[in-house]
Amino acid sequence: MRKIILAGNWKMHKTQAEALEFLEAFKPLVTDTPEEREVVLCVPYTALGTLSKHLHGSAVRLGAQNVHWEDSGAYTGEISGSMLKELGVRYAIVGHSERRQYFGETDETVNQRLKAAQKHGLTPILCVGETQEQREANETESHIFSQIEKDLVDIDQQNLVIAYEPIWAIGTGKTCEAPEANRVMGLIRSKLTNKDVTIQYGGSVKPENIDEIMAQPEIDGVLVGGASLKADSWGRIVNYQ
Ligand code: PGA
Repeated sequence: MRKIILAGNWKMHKTQAEALEFLEAFKPLVTDTPEEREVVLCVPYTALGTLSKHLHGSAVRLGAQNVHWEDSGAYTGEISGSMLKELGVRYAIVGHSERRQYFGETDETVNQRLKAAQKHGLTPILCVGETQEQREANETESHIFSQIEKDLVDIDQQNLVIAYEPIWAIGTGKTCEAPEANRVMGLIRSKLTNKDVTIQYGGSVKPENIDEIMAQPEIDGVLVGGASLKADSWGRIVNYQ
């Protein structure tokens, strides 16, 4: 059975106070959300502790936006799996295109981070996707297959989420047409040994397109940036029809 997972990625947004304000408005919106939908918030590290306390007893899960491959050490600015685990974190985004583009993340470091997440009992959300140029050059499939092959070396596919995020659709308002996202996601699934891996779509998901996206057979959830920052739009997304 493929699990439905709807995850918000706050990126570098919200102080602790703002995160709590969001939560107060958001909690009443998920009281009737079907139990089989897992709702996750991947928030800045500084908001994890507070949200963890305030989410106690709630079905909403916490996620981080990265995790380092070592348990501890001289890695200024990084965070380890045990540090996240202690705060009640369940998920960690790994290999987001912004990490790959701005912070030198490679398929090799992504693979190491995935392993570390699993070692600490976190479920990694591996992000893959093509640029506009790759899409225009007909390299979408080969690029994504190459990412998956390299990123998933020695990774346990029983504890894994994959997010297909076409880079040209992230934060641009340009959504990949739902049937096209569905097609690429089917190709991704065909390369997996565990066909039940949850595969999410990400890139300009919003209240206006969530119902069509979630109606696609290969789409098991979404990874949402901008539209997860406001309680009402995020509430509408997790309560898709
Ligand atoms: P967006 O971001 O929803 O703002 O396009 C998605 C993501 O980067 O995960």
